[in-house]
Amino acid sequence: MYATAFHSHSPACHNGLGISLSRSRGLILTKPYNRSCDKLRNIADIQNGDSKQTFKADTQTPDTDMQTPLLFSPEKLGSIELSNRIVMAPMTRCRAIGNIPNELMAEYYGQRAAAGLIVTEGTSPSPNGLGYARIPGIFSEAQVEGWKKVTKAVHGKKGRIFIQLMHSGRISHILNLPAGARVVAPSAVKPAGQMWTDAQKMQDFPVPEAMTREDLSHTKEEYVTAAKNAMTAGFDGVELHGANGYLLEQFLSPFSNIRNDEYGGTIENRCRFVLEVAAAVAAAIGKDRTAIRLSPYGVASDMPHYPEIDATYQYLAGELNGLGIVYIHLVDHSAMGAPPVPVTIKKEIRARFKNAIIQCGGYDYKRAETDLESGLCDLVAFGRPFINNPDLVDRLKHHRTLSQDLKMDLFYSADKTGYTDYPVFEDQPAETVR
Ligand SMILES: Cc1cc2nc3c(=O)[nH]c(=O)nc-3n(C[C@H](O)[C@H](O)[C@H](O)COP(=O)(O)O)c2cc1C
Repeated sequence: MYATAFHSHSPACHNGLGISLSRSRGLILTKPYNRSCDKLRNIADIQNGDSKQTFKADTQTPDTDMQTPLLFSPEKLGSIELSNRIVMAPMTRCRAIGNIPNELMAEYYGQRAAAGLIVTEGTSPSPNGLGYARIPGIFSEAQVEGWKKVTKAVHGKKGRIFIQLMHSGRISHILNLPAGARVVAPSAVKPAGQMWTDAQKMQDFPVPEAMTREDLSHTKEEYVTAAKNAMTAGFDGVELHGANGYLLEQFLSPFSNIRNDEYGGTIENRCRFVLEVAAAVAAAIGKDRTAIRLSPYGVASDMPHYPEIDATYQYLAGELNGLGIVYIHLVDHSAMGAPPVPVTIKKEIRARFKNAIIQCGGYDYKRAETDLESGLCDLVAFGRPFINNPDLVDRLKHHRTLSQDLKMDLFYSADKTGYTDYPVFEDQPAETVR
C-alpha cells in the first residue's frame, strides 16, 4: 500500500559481468557477474582503464547479442531463472473481497506475467496485519486456494511471482480487521494521520497495543506459516515487507519503536525482530526463496528521519547478507513527492549485500538501463507504469509510447474498473497515446 500523503491511506482516492566497458565506451555486458562490492569495484577499475577484466576486444564477438539491453537480458535469482530484469513492484489494489484472492486478481497478474518477476500486493501473514480494507491474507486455507489461481495464471505464461508479506502493524484500524484481531505494534505509539475504513470512511489511526514477548514469537510464527502457505500456493518466493512504515519498519525506527527490551534502543536491538523473522522464514522455505523490501529515508506512514538511518541500514544489509537471502528490494519514492534517498546509502547497501539488489521508484527505460549498467542494481521494479500498461514489457522492448491514462481514483476501488480493463498498446485509443 502506498499513500501520496505519506500519512493517510484512502482506498477511495488516493554485473560477475564478465564485461566489459560501459555501453558508452562501446562494449556491452556479456556474462553473469559477481555482485555487490566486487561489481562496483570492477566497474570502477574498468572505467579507470584496468585491464584485468576478461572482456573481449572490440574486434571480437561478444558472448551474447550485443544489441540486447540489460533490461531484457535474463537473470538468475538464486535458483530461479528470470526472462528479463523487469520487476512488477508490489501494489495494493484492494480487490480481495473478504481478504481472499480471486479470479479477477488472477486475471490482473496474468495480464502482467511478461515481467521477469512479479511481486504481489502486500499480503497479510496474520489477521492482525489486515490493516486496510480488502487486502488479501495468506493465513487461511481459502486464501491459499485463492492464491493458487494467481500463481497458476502467472506460471501459465512462464512468469515468476513472489508474494509480499505485509503486516500492517500500527497502520491499521479495528474497523478493517476481522473479529478478534488486534492493532499491534512494537510500541504504543500512534501514527499521525487517518486511514480509510469501508464502514466509517476516514478514521484517525488508533493507538496500537505494544507487542508482548508472546506477541513477538506468535507473529514470527505467523510469518513462517504464511511463507510455508506461499510455497503450497505455488509462489516462487516471499518478499518480506520491511518498508513504507509497516510492522517490520516500525521496529527499525526509534520513533515507532521505543521499547526498552532487547528489541528496542540500540541499532542491533531495533533490527532484531526483522532479522529474526527473515532468518525464520529462510529456515522454513529456503534462503533462495526469501527476500526483503526496505525503504531507508522513507517517510511513508509517519516515519520521520532519525540520525542513525545510515548506520541502521548498513548494519541490516550486512546481517541480511549473512543470512544469504536472495534479494533486497530498495524503495525510493522521491518521484512521488517523498524526500530523495541519498545514492550513498543505495551504494552502501549494494556494497554490503552480495545477492541481488532491486531498485524501485520513478524508473523509465533509460534510467533503468543506466542503473543496471553501473551495477547499482540487478533488477529494476516498475510500479505505476504496470497499472495502466499491462503490456509494459512489450512497450519498453519495442519503444512504444506508454499510456499516461492512470486512474488514481481507482487504485483501491473494489472491481475490475481501473484494474483489468486497461488496454494493451494495439487496442489503445489513439488519443490516449502521448
Ligand atoms: C497503488 C499503489 C499501491 C502500492 N502498494 C504497495 C504495497 O502493497 N507494497 C509496497 O511495498 N509498495 C507499494 N506501493 C509502492 C510501489 O511498490 C512502488 O514502490 C512505487 O509505486 C514507486 O514505483 P513507481 O514510481 O514505478 O510507481 C504501492 C504503490 C501504488 C501506486
